[in-house]
Amino acid sequence: MEKIIAPDLDDTSRRYRPGTGHGSRISRLIVFFGLCALTLTFVLASTVVNLHSSSPAVPLHVHEILDKCARLPLKPGPPDDFGNRSYSDRYVPGTKAILITNGTIWTGRNQGLEIIKGDILLHGGIIKAVGYVSQSLLDSTTEHVTIDAHGAWITPGIIDVHSHIGVGTAPAFDGVEDGNSFKGPIQPWLRSLDGLNTHDDSYKISAAGGVTTSLILPGSANAIGGQAFVIKLRPTKERSPTSLLLEPPFDLNGTNVNPHQPPRWRHMKHACGENPARVYGDTRMDDVWVWRQAYNKARELKNAQDAFCQKAVAREWENLEGQTFPEELQWEALVDILRGKVKVQTHCYEAVDFDNFVRLSQEFEFPVAAFHHAHEAYLVPDVLKKAYEHPPAIAMFSTFARYKREAFRHSEFAPRILADNGIDVVMKSDHAAIVSRYLVNEAALAHYYGLPENIALASVISTPAKVLGLEHRIGYIKEGYDADVVVWDSHPLSLGSTPAQVIIDGIAQIPSAYVSAKPASHSRAPNTPNFNREATSAVKFEGLPPLGPSESLEDLVVFVSVEHLWVRDAAGNGIVEAFGSRRSGSGNTVVVQHGRVLCSDVASDSCLSYLALPDIRVIDLHGGSLQPGLVSFGSNLGLQEIAMEDSTVDGEAPDYFAVSTPPFVEAGYLPRAMDGLQYATRDALLAYRSGVTVGITAPSHSGFLGGLTTAFSLGSAHKLERGALVQNITAVHVSFGRSVIPSISTQVAALRSLLQGHTEGDHAKWFRLVSQGKLPLVIRVDSADIIATLIELKKEVETASQAPLKMTLEGATEAHILARELSEANIGVILKPPRSFPYTWDQRRIVPGPPLSEDSPIAHLVKHNVTVGIGPQGTNAMADLSAWAVRNTRFDAGWEHYESPNVISKETALALASVNVERLLGLETMPGEGDLVATTGGDLLDFEGKVVAVLSPRRGVVDLF
Ligand SMILES: *[C@@H]1O[C@H](CO)[C@@H](O)[C@H](O)[C@H]1NC(C)=O
Ligand SMILES: *[C@@H]1O[C@H](CO)[C@@H](O)[C@H](O)[C@H]1NC(C)=O
Ligand SMILES: *[C@@H]1O[C@H](CO)[C@@H](O)[C@H](O)[C@H]1NC(C)=O
Ligand SMILES: *[C@@H]1O[C@H](CO)[C@@H](O)[C@H](O)[C@H]1NC(C)=O
Repeated sequence: MEKIIAPDLDDTSRRYRPGTGHGSRISRLIVFFGLCALTLTFVLASTVVNLHSSSPAVPLHVHEILDKCARLPLKPGPPDDFGNRSYSDRYVPGTKAILITNGTIWTGRNQGLEIIKGDILLHGGIIKAVGYVSQSLLDSTTEHVTIDAHGAWITPGIIDVHSHIGVGTAPAFDGVEDGNSFKGPIQPWLRSLDGLNTHDDSYKISAAGGVTTSLILPGSANAIGGQAFVIKLRPTKERSPTSLLLEPPFDLNGTNVNPHQPPRWRHMKHACGENPARVYGDTRMDDVWVWRQAYNKARELKNAQDAFCQKAVAREWENLEGQTFPEELQWEALVDILRGKVKVQTHCYEAVDFDNFVRLSQEFEFPVAAFHHAHEAYLVPDVLKKAYEHPPAIAMFSTFARYKREAFRHSEFAPRILADNGIDVVMKSDHAAIVSRYLVNEAALAHYYGLPENIALASVISTPAKVLGLEHRIGYIKEGYDADVVVWDSHPLSLGSTPAQVIIDGIAQIPSAYVSAKPASHSRAPNTPNFNREATSAVKFEGLPPLGPSESLEDLVVFVSVEHLWVRDAAGNGIVEAFGSRRSGSGNTVVVQHGRVLCSDVASDSCLSYLALPDIRVIDLHGGSLQPGLVSFGSNLGLQEIAMEDSTVDGEAPDYFAVSTPPFVEAGYLPRAMDGLQYATRDALLAYRSGVTVGITAPSHSGFLGGLTTAFSLGSAHKLERGALVQNITAVHVSFGRSVIPSISTQVAALRSLLQGHTEGDHAKWFRLVSQGKLPLVIRVDSADIIATLIELKKEVETASQAPLKMTLEGATEAHILARELSEANIGVILKPPRSFPYTWDQRRIVPGPPLSEDSPIAHLVKHNVTVGIGPQGTNAMADLSAWAVRNTRFDAGWEHYESPNVISKETALALASVNVERLLGLETMPGEGDLVATTGGDLLDFEGKVVAVLSPRRGVVDLF
């Protein structure tokens, strides 16, 4: 994990980042961390009110002093007349008014339950009217453009309370790593604004997902990391960081606009637990001590200020002879926290951390705005309720978890459990941990797992506005509020919903939007399954509920009321609908024995004969579906339990280019992923319960030579069970990465030499099979330039060997540039992530997909007849930080279908995540051997179906959940 990508997950850069480095940076950083750990000394600067000590009792600057004292107790908030404003302070003169007609408007009011059908008028950077726009009002605006929403959903802009846009950058550069300072554990004087790079591709990309406002936080390497700032994600004429700010503190630029106005909210980042510990070698005990030390210092200052001001206000100047207003620039922000002027934003994961921080809030008497990440918050609502003044909001991920121990007990049911406990729920991105463009999808996932519709929408709109102290101007569609509005192509909680227009400060951000027609069912929130049992179990088992099947049935099982049956075609190249809604009748029946379908036609005699047997087990799918089990490739699934916890991971293959290699590596030994497999990991079981039945995994490696990939069952308890290893060896895997040594051309040279048989030992044997076209070669690569070289290399090898080489690219973000050439060269692609993001330079040329481009990257490749499989959406391109995301494969595939229905049918979408992955990775599935997945309420490809069973012929069972 690269800290600039996701500063909050891990501050370390010791892991390999595909496409950017083989570790040259690692040693530098270790030295860097080592040095920084010692830097605990604080340099105290002080600014004082300039009193003339020579003057008699009454100081010259008496008004300044009294103003200062008068401001101390003022609480932040909008001025009283804020609601009467006719222009926004962010209004760009010359901006035309916008009239949006015929919207279905989710206003955010009335607990998110108010929906108004009607129009909205935006002018002067604010909302002028909602619902009915009078002709006289319209006439009073000089000129306006009209957007006909045709009944579409309209919401306020999406608000992200946890983002690192700008303090990192996309693509990532060593020169822009401004998220974390390593100069000490307590740094309340630092400001994210001071590191806000304006050339991050994320601004535009995130805005295209409807995100209009973000809180830019420093990273989490420090117990106190610094001040955070709220920005709007639209470009400004000034092009400066400052011009992006929303309601910055008045004195930011040294001018107090109006000393008698209430101040504006400030934000302070704190972090508990593993991250500060990793950087400073601190324990949790040390972190609490440095907090207490810092807050004690602030409290002393505050008390001194209050004592000073008490005398000043009483005009007891003789008692203040020679004294100045007590303040220290380094500590003023903490003093403001104690005065209730700062939203305390705290990264905390575990019960112990909440307990500590809540105690701190009580000891020093300050409220906590939100706990961020907060993976265990749902287990300890009573602790949250003990926080000073009010329970903090909980800002979290939907399904992103288990990347470190602190996040191990996460539950996808946490949002609904917290909401049931009356706690404010916020979904956040930690951009680019989750690309904030997809923040509304986090709310949609929370909704799928049980968060009510009104609360789910509020969780990324109105509730974050409250957490930021900005609910007087954003987070609602209400007269006088900021003109930040999103027009959606479907209900925002439906799968793959995409803005058709995003308006920030009354300015449209998407010049010409590409959106596809969504089905009628997507014009309302999905009818989500019932997960009450699972949610109760999550709490009962303290976040580690049993995930394996509740029953495994070997004998006859009959699925009734099956609306769709999708199966592999006879050649195993695609998916076909065996029967579907087109076939009428009272619902179809499928008979299964030993996990294998015996018949799927009630009308046939053979089927009827089974149905007559006694003791058959009947499972009613209530109009659900049977579809192929999905296959995942592209993560370290099966090789790790907790990515950042070394004691739980397989480790890394030795680097092929290392100066000294172990003797057996020298002898050409190629690691086999099958030898390192771990079964029944939580990521594997969660994926299994979500319809992914087979994992294909390469040996974990950060260097060039990976080894031999393996295919295994995600439902098996251990390797020796029947069907646990699906195919021992499926392909040979190598990775191309950017670093100083070895160069890309050296890596190409190495691959050429391996393919030409210039090496000895185990390598030679496997690469010979590759050159003979008997085993696929899978190459992790993103850059179109390297891909072009590989296309040439393939031809070169084929000319020599006279056999077609099976080549598959993994990652392949820039493959679209060479779609035609890849298709001609018969090279397939596992696109990972399926929805591209420019994490690195080699991934910078993305197809952004709707609304920014007509095609999604996958639709573009499919149109060019490239065989495409999808990898996990994951956290970035890294294999070890993608395993958590495998469970979402079904939704990623469905997303492709709903985004490009004319290019990607449901059958194609299912193929993208099953047979295509198998073919591209060399997994051979005999006819009838492939798994099927049973869903109720809908199919795998949407937010309505729930997986209830897996049918596995290889394992000879039907697993029930
Ligand atoms: C709003 O749009 C819907 C969908 O296009 C249409 O059926 C309806 O007639 C429109 N209503 C108005 C008032 O224009
Ligand atoms: C300082 O910022 C305020 C807005 O907060 C602005 O009105 C003022 O003009 C700025 N002053 C300078 C010198 O830039
Ligand atoms: C897979 O590997 C196991 C253990 O090495 C071996 O027993 C088994 O025969 C292999 N299966 C195949 C199909 O190669
Ligand atoms: C893709 O394949 C189809 C069917 O073979 C063919 O008609 C079409 O022209 C091909 N498209 C491209 C871009 O090669």
